Amino acid sequence: MARPVLRTRLCDILDIEYPIILAGMGGVSTAELVAAVSEAGGLGIVGAASMPADEIERQVRRIRDLTSKPFGVDVLLPSGVSTPRPAPSADVKESASASDAPKRPRDYLPAAYNTFIDNAEHEFGLPAKGEDQAWTSGMSRLGSGDFSKRQVEAILDLKVPVFAAGLGNPAPWVEQFHAQGAKVIGLVGNVKNARRIADGGTDVVVAQGTEAGGHTGRIGTMALLPQVIDAVAPTAVCAAGGIGDGRGIAGALAMGCDGVWIGTAFLVSREATWPDLLKERILAATEEDTRVTRLYSGKTMRNINNPLIEYWESQKLDALPMGMQGIVSGEIMSGARQANKLELLMNPAGQISGMLHEMRAAKDIFEDMVREAAEIIAEGMPRRVKASL
Ligand SMILES: Cc1cc2nc3c(=O)[nH]c(=O)nc-3n(C[C@H](O)[C@H](O)[C@H](O)COP(=O)(O)O)c2cc1C
Repeated sequence: MARPVLRTRLCDILDIEYPIILAGMGGVSTAELVAAVSEAGGLGIVGAASMPADEIERQVRRIRDLTSKPFGVDVLLPSGVSTPRPAPSADVKESASASDAPKRPRDYLPAAYNTFIDNAEHEFGLPAKGEDQAWTSGMSRLGSGDFSKRQVEAILDLKVPVFAAGLGNPAPWVEQFHAQGAKVIGLVGNVKNARRIADGGTDVVVAQGTEAGGHTGRIGTMALLPQVIDAVAPTAVCAAGGIGDGRGIAGALAMGCDGVWIGTAFLVSREATWPDLLKERILAATEEDTRVTRLYSGKTMRNINNPLIEYWESQKLDALPMGMQGIVSGEIMSGARQANKLELLMNPAGQISGMLHEMRAAKDIFEDMVREAAEIIAEGMPRRVKASL
């Protein structure tokens, strides 16, 4: 079968064959999945959100062993002020005796959040045995200015071809990336932030609608895309959020996008580094089974819904800043793991979950999308829609 053609200016900007980018999904988009998408002709992006610099280096070396094609690395930059390691809050100081210096991350939380952790552990029958260091330290790193600075410096040192900022404004780093011939991508959920990152020199703006899995905004993809395209022209724009097959890709290109950035559809690929249970929950989900919550990271994140999310939302607590909220969720996740109540774990996924029915190789997912989009644009539309001027 001939190789389909599907090309936009994004392919020239990023030096790729097809205008399809694998979303940099934290902890899920790692070397094997990234290399598979880049090898297939798209751009694979590592989700390095909570990866320390040495792990980013390992990932990049592994990708370079697997492919010579371009790829990228995505981090979450702090938005505005950085949030370094939290200091004990006033009510914590009151509740701890003078000789009893805080030792665990949860000792840094305001009292109401410690009460929430205790109540949740009781509600779901979880052991109150302290935290899972790996998880908590990963989640609580998010949003730390020093941590993300070290990440970006590592990405520069490694001469990665594409740098992506999933949160925050990459503007302060643009010049250094451009100086070494790299491109910069920034993710936004509204027009104001799209303008801000385009003005900062970002090469590609990803406009992500609320349908998306993971951190997400309030505006639907269909409403967001034309407004972002108009606001940042002539900067290239990719669509994200709710794209699950070639129909979504063709739709985004028809609206004027230069490409697409896809997450959830690749979560159920064999290469995605996720427990099978989380993939199976996505495969079993309908379009109604996701919910946006601040429980896990402090920012709005779309997940497969679960009883812990329902419980958190019913308590009407304000989420803590990123990093600190990760300590809250980290404590409870640790107990959920120990009690084997994996259905309570964070399981970010988008509204397209309802159209995913089997686990497949990333290459097959990718190739089917390309073929379907090319078919719609080259033949399906002219056959089904009569239009002339
Ligand atoms: C499991 C998961 C983890 C994610 N982690 C990140 C991340 O670390 N950085 C980021 O920029 N976006 C992250 N996202 C959001 C994606 O980049 C992307 O915008 C989104 O998946 C697109 O919508 P879709 O899921 O409908 O394809 C994540 C999404 C999911 C589902």
